[in-house]
Amino acid sequence: MNDELSSLVSEAQRAFAEAADAASLENAKARFLGKSGAVTERLKMLGKTPPEQRAAVGAEINQAKQAIETALDTRRAAIAEARMQAQLDAEAIDVSLPGRSQGTGGLHPITRTRNRIEALLRTQGFAVVDGPEIEDDFHNFAALNMPENHPARSMHDTFYIGDDLVLRTHTSPVQVRWMEGHPPPVKIIAPGRTFRVDSDATHSPMFHQVEGLWVDRNVSFADLKQVLSEFLRLFFERDDIRVRFRPSFFPFTEPSAEIDMAFGAGKWLEIAGAGQVHPNVLRAVKLDPDQWQGFAFGMGIERLAMLRYGVTDLRLFYENDLRFLRQFS
Ligand code: PHE
Repeated sequence: MNDELSSLVSEAQRAFAEAADAASLENAKARFLGKSGAVTERLKMLGKTPPEQRAAVGAEINQAKQAIETALDTRRAAIAEARMQAQLDAEAIDVSLPGRSQGTGGLHPITRTRNRIEALLRTQGFAVVDGPEIEDDFHNFAALNMPENHPARSMHDTFYIGDDLVLRTHTSPVQVRWMEGHPPPVKIIAPGRTFRVDSDATHSPMFHQVEGLWVDRNVSFADLKQVLSEFLRLFFERDDIRVRFRPSFFPFTEPSAEIDMAFGAGKWLEIAGAGQVHPNVLRAVKLDPDQWQGFAFGMGIERLAMLRYGVTDLRLFYENDLRFLRQFS
């Protein structure tokens, strides 16, 4: 190869070495191997070379062309390799960094409260059962001694879904459903969602109750007082809990009581409704009220949670503000 061609090859090698990325390498390539690149121009000039020198000159140019192409391929591979390495470095795991935590979830305060209620009443022998949130008129009202047009129905601001179906306004229908399927003795609690058309700081259209029902030969109002007083003392873990039973009215219990509680000398707070199961409820599930008797109660789970945690606005439970919820987990 003559000096002129050798220096062309060196020039190309230098240009390729200086190209830092694929794009500038392709630009450099054009200068030598492109349509009007230095090598191509020389090949075009071959026609003007005296015929007897043409083969030798052509061979030399091709030699130079090959050397330049080899340099180009080598540099191409090097650039690709460097790029890959940079990518690997960028994605590499720095084992000295602290781990990315998954974050742990927590139970909602209402769920915690419900679990606590279940655990405590289980120790007193109650089985935990449930029933449907969409109820028919018979189970939500009629079988609970609230026949059609009974004035007590207006105590419940009911969500109707068509003529016969409602969103259950209380958990009491589970009393009926359970006794329809299970002969006494019956000793159950039924926690779950309930619904009423009502909304303010202490009422939510969706809220939770826990129903209690204990029916046997001899279950009395004294048992009711014992079970609920004991439950409240265990639930709040305080020795200064006062409990009082205030005469009240529910169509499905007789006698009926509202249960109030107070911390020490604090003010009375209503916590549950209760009473001896009304004979008409027993008749509705084909039990003989002369053979069977017992009590039922219904407590508001939100109310218990608010008192235990000192929450003053019920709506906080449903806003899903993590600053609020995190305090419980
Ligand atoms: N179901 C009643 C209510 O929602 C509460 C209750 C339950 C009262 C059982 C007495 C017996 O208000």
